[in-house]
Formats: sequence, C-alpha cells, structure tokens
Amino acid sequence: MPIDAVPAGKRFFIHTFGCQMNESDSSRMAEALLRDGWAAAEAPDAADLIVLNTCAIREKAEAKVMSALGRYRLVRAQRGARLGVAGCVAQAEKARLLERVPYLDFVLGPDQISELPRLARATGAREARTDFVGSEEYVFPRADPRGVGAQVSAFVTVMKGCDNVCSFCIVPHTRGREVSRPVPEVESEVARLVAAGVREVTLIGQNVNSYAGGCTFAELVRRVAKVPGLQRIRFTTSHPQDLSPELMRAFAEVPLLMPHFHLPVQSGSSAVLERMRRRYTCDDYRAKIGSLRALVPDLALTSDIIVGFPGETDQDFAATMALVEELRFDNLYSFIYSPRPHTSAMRHLGEWGEVAREVAVRRLERLQARQREISLEKNRAFVGRTVELLVEGPSRTDAAKRMGRTRWNQVVNFEGLAPAGALAQVRVDAASVVALSGVERSHELPPVGVEPSHPSGRRLRVL
Ligand code: SAH
Ligand code: SF4
Ligand code: F3S
Repeated sequence: MPIDAVPAGKRFFIHTFGCQMNESDSSRMAEALLRDGWAAAEAPDAADLIVLNTCAIREKAEAKVMSALGRYRLVRAQRGARLGVAGCVAQAEKARLLERVPYLDFVLGPDQISELPRLARATGAREARTDFVGSEEYVFPRADPRGVGAQVSAFVTVMKGCDNVCSFCIVPHTRGREVSRPVPEVESEVARLVAAGVREVTLIGQNVNSYAGGCTFAELVRRVAKVPGLQRIRFTTSHPQDLSPELMRAFAEVPLLMPHFHLPVQSGSSAVLERMRRRYTCDDYRAKIGSLRALVPDLALTSDIIVGFPGETDQDFAATMALVEELRFDNLYSFIYSPRPHTSAMRHLGEWGEVAREVAVRRLERLQARQREISLEKNRAFVGRTVELLVEGPSRTDAAKRMGRTRWNQVVNFEGLAPAGALAQVRVDAASVVALSGVERSHELPPVGVEPSHPSGRRLRVL
C-alpha cells in the first residue's frame, strides 16, 4: 500500500543483528506487519513500532543489543512507539528481559513470529511469547515475494534449530531442536521467489546438511535445481560431521550449485575440537576437504575459527595456524571465545583454564593477518581473468559502479551497465582482500518471468 495510505501510527522499523537466520526472520516479520496494514519507516525515529531482532552468539553481540535498546528508549518516550525484542536474546532471556528492561513492551521468540501483528497492536499488558514449537506443529512462515521486491538473491529457510551440542554455542538453547521444512514447501517457495524475479537462492539453516524434510539435503539441492528460471543455488551453514559423499558429489554434478562451501572447522587442534564437542578430528576435516577438492578443484572454501577456547595452548594455536596454512581458505571468520550462559564450556571454564584476554587477542591478530595475506593472494589470481557475475545492483562502495558476485561468492565492483539479475562477463583488473574490481565485457539479460512464451530466455548484449 502507498505510504500516504497508511493510517497514522502504523510505521515499523526492524533492526536486525546476527546471522542469515535472523535476516530471514526479519523479512518474515516485515511481511506479517505489511499484511496487517503497517508500512516500513525510513528510520527508527519515524517509527511507531521498533523491533530489535537480536543475536546472542557472543557477549559483544548481546552488548550491542543493550546499547541499541538504550537509544530506542528515547523514541519510545517521544513518540509513544512500541518497543519489542525478538530473536536469540529474547529466547534466552524470555520474560526476564521485561524485568531487566522496564521500558520494553514485548519479547518475541523466533518461533513466535506469527504473534507479532497482535503484539504490535496490543496496548495492554507487557508480554513475553517465547514458546518453542515442536516438529509436529511447527509451520515455517512463508516468504511473501511481494515483500522481496526487486531482490536478485533470497534466503530460503529449509530447517530450524540445532541438535548438536558444541560446548561453546548458545544456539541450541535459543533456537531449539531441529525441524526440517517439507520438500514441497521448499520447492514452491523457491518457485514463487523466482516468479517474482529472484535468480539465486541460499538455502539456510543452523545445520542445513542434517536436513530431514523428506529426503537428504543433497537430494533437496537437486530438486531445487529443477525449478525453472533459477540460476544459482548456495547454502549455509554445514557441519563437517554431516558432510556426506552425496553432498560432495552435488557440487560436481549440479551445475546450479555454486562452487563455494562454508564449512566451519573451529580449531586446528583435535584436543580442542574434542573439548568443543565437534565430533570430528582435524584429520577427518582434512580428509573431507581433500575429497571435495579432488571432485571440484576450483571449490572456494571458507570457514569459522574460534581462538582462545578454554585450555587452548600455544601448541594448539600453532596447529590452527598450520591448518590455515595448509588448507588455504578463501576467507575466514574468526572470533575470540566468549563464554555463554547455558553452555557446557562455560561450566568447565575453571577446569580447562581460561585463556588470558591479551593472549587471545594476539592469537586472533596473527590468524587474521595471515588470512588477509592468503585471501589477497587468492583474489589477485583472478586479475586478468574474465568471470561470470550475477549482478545485484549498484556498488555499495562506489556509486558510479555496479556490483555482482562471482560463482565463488566474491564481490566484484565493476564499470558497466548490466541490470540487476543479469549475468555479466567482467574482466577483473584489480583485487583487494575483500573484493575484486573490473570492467564489463558483455551481459545476458535475465529471462522475463519463467513463462514458456519466452523460450529463448535471454538476450545477449555485447558492449
Ligand atoms: N551453525 C553454524 C554457525 C553457528 S554460529 C555452525 O555450526 O557452524 C557462527 C560461528 O560463531 C560459529 O561457527 C563459531 O565459530 C562462532 N561462535 C559460536 N559460539 C561462539 C562463542 N561462544 N564464542 C566465540 N565464537 C562463537
Ligand atoms: Fe552451534 Fe554447533 Fe549447532 Fe553450529 S552446530 S549452531 S556451532 S551447536
Ligand atoms: Fe546469533 Fe541466533 Fe544467529 S545467536 S548467530 S542470531 S541463531
């Protein structure tokens, strides 16, 4: 509905923290509000409803939420806006959050998104809705392509929750048990998104490769690849223990599945992995990467690593550095261990021994410095090559340029005219640690819808 048709007092603003699961949940919340007659506000201080969709993965993430809440308190006081906390902090804290934050109107757990329109409207009592919904009753909120607008790439939730017991991680506590979305629902959501202009989907879940919604995850990828008009598939995040030979083969055999794999290793020391309860050793991980690279030699590989896990010695950290040297990840997300409530590592802190903060900081700096060099070397190897990009829109760093992603998920800022959704051929002429830049050679326009009345699908345009 046009913004001026929205009744006064019905503008919302959602501030999203955390991972792809939260981004996706925020889209579903926005869609639920739009259906209920709300419109999006440009900024929080123009909103009548502010929702913080929060992350609890590390202490710092939680601190950011608390400071944002402090800022929004003012808007609430000035405009009489309603203020709610959703996501993982909401789930971990539940009704306690209403006690801790007296100016908070509601608390909404990740399984309770459908309650948002009611809580947004309510003027009465303060409320916390944080029940988990089990596999029998849970209905995954459907993406509404009208909300997606002109988006080229979209997340599709295929499972929720996590049944693993990694000793550092709060996610099983905040997201509950694994529930998989039935195959036909995933297929029809992808088809609806494609009909609305989406060209790439990323299948998401805390542990996507343990998917069990009627077939294996590898089979799900193959089925999604059959949706007409879809051009690219990605997925995240996977656990090394659930990485099957069948999923490895999918990388080699499903042309739509992009050659980029995010597979968190967490540490290069098997002793640390054991205390982390990851259920694989370094050699298991190495062997899996070896098999994958034998099947798909150009596979881009990214990972997560935690440094300063309780009891991590200099030798353990040296083993992590050696693994990074050996496997040469394309990119790495690395963090200092942060003790989290409801986790077993926190209960063992005293026994295993905390790593001093300065030691952990130094380790993180060394790891990140080495990884920056490796990422730069890897990106530089693309200079002079012409690569295919799926164009997403204007560049975020240079208004005169366009932006797209390579098959390996690198961001490329380029000079050219290719519209969002087009596949462009771009010659790479420079590389940094985080991105490539180049010049467009040609592009193919996206197919117009997926109707059989457009059999050729694409037109070729050469610059
Ligand atoms: N389900 C995914 C992602 C979980 S959270 C997986 O298993 O890989 C993303 C990353 O945050 C993790 O891979 C881990 O590296 C990091 N992380 C999780 N808990 C943490 C903690 N307590 N301290 C520091 N980093 C943490
Ligand atoms: Fe957390 Fe481990 Fe589950 Fe990932 S697999 S969400 S790190 S418990
Ligand atoms: Fe954070 Fe929850 Fe995601 S803790 S990383 S928002 S699942």
